[in-house]
Amino acid sequence: QKYLFRVPYSKEFADYIWPGMVVNPEKILSLNDMQLGPDDVVIASYPKSGTTWASEVLSAIAHDGDTEMLSRIRMDERVLWLELDDKAWWIKFFYIWKNKIFSNSATNAVPKKRICFTHLPLELLPPSILEGKCKLLYVARNPKDQAVSFFHFHRMARFLGMQTHTSWNEFFPLFCSGFLYCGSWFEHVLAYWKFTQNNPQAKFICYEDMKRDLMAEMESLEQFVGVPLSMEQRVKVVKHCSFDSMKDNKMANRDGVMLFNEKISKFMRKGIVGDWKNYFTVAQSEAFDELYQEKMTGTGLHFEFE
Ligand code: A3P
Repeated sequence: QKYLFRVPYSKEFADYIWPGMVVNPEKILSLNDMQLGPDDVVIASYPKSGTTWASEVLSAIAHDGDTEMLSRIRMDERVLWLELDDKAWWIKFFYIWKNKIFSNSATNAVPKKRICFTHLPLELLPPSILEGKCKLLYVARNPKDQAVSFFHFHRMARFLGMQTHTSWNEFFPLFCSGFLYCGSWFEHVLAYWKFTQNNPQAKFICYEDMKRDLMAEMESLEQFVGVPLSMEQRVKVVKHCSFDSMKDNKMANRDGVMLFNEKISKFMRKGIVGDWKNYFTVAQSEAFDELYQEKMTGTGLHFEFE
């Protein structure tokens, strides 16, 4: 609760949305009993770090590079949101209804790995993940681009209850203080960074590396989950997972999810590195650099900002 509902605008939050129907403490507590095993891969991230992108890549690997299969099954069925409340059936209903997208259940799409994703902070993960019973992949993104993406997300995600007219200048201090959904970016990322350094079942990847060379990242992910692909399959998957291709792919682009107000922003927004330069003022950039130095020095973790 401390992390997930740490919102400064709680009055509107309470009036405007259905927080308990998306993520709630009971559901998170119930995850304690969840048993995950060697055939499970959990993708963890602070929101807007490339979770959906990594989900599509891993899902493609788990389906042996069969992108036609991926195009027949909705992402929300292939990659489950771990902490999503069971009562949130209406999300799926509206998603299907609005887009008229039905997975073809006649296909025998049994993936080699079961994949799910989570935005929970490390300490709230089910014990079986922390004990290394399954694979854990953490996806991180440079915090300046992440902040800009999160700004748009806070305006468009109805369940976060932020006013759609909130400006970047209003959002920026909230991001720096960690007074937002999922709390401080620094706390989230650094806890996972530390964990993945000492755990062979866990891996840490960066959005910017995927952007620079998706093929190379894929190869290392294949090794990590133990499902090697051929070069031909890999080429197909890289094309399938490009931003332009995913943006137009209604099985993966999250269009029509009732939680999102698409008039404000699309889920698949820009998909680039360096968009922060269009938002941060010089003073904001300097202030953030100072905070970044203070929190990150000595951790061994570095990000690319352009
Ligand atoms: P932007 O808002 O900067 O465009 P998440 O899935 O963790 O919520 O992250 C969403 C961010 O990842 C969005 O960033 C989205 O556009 C970007 N993204 C999604 N698919 C992508 C892809 N195939 N290539 C590059 N960026 C992608």
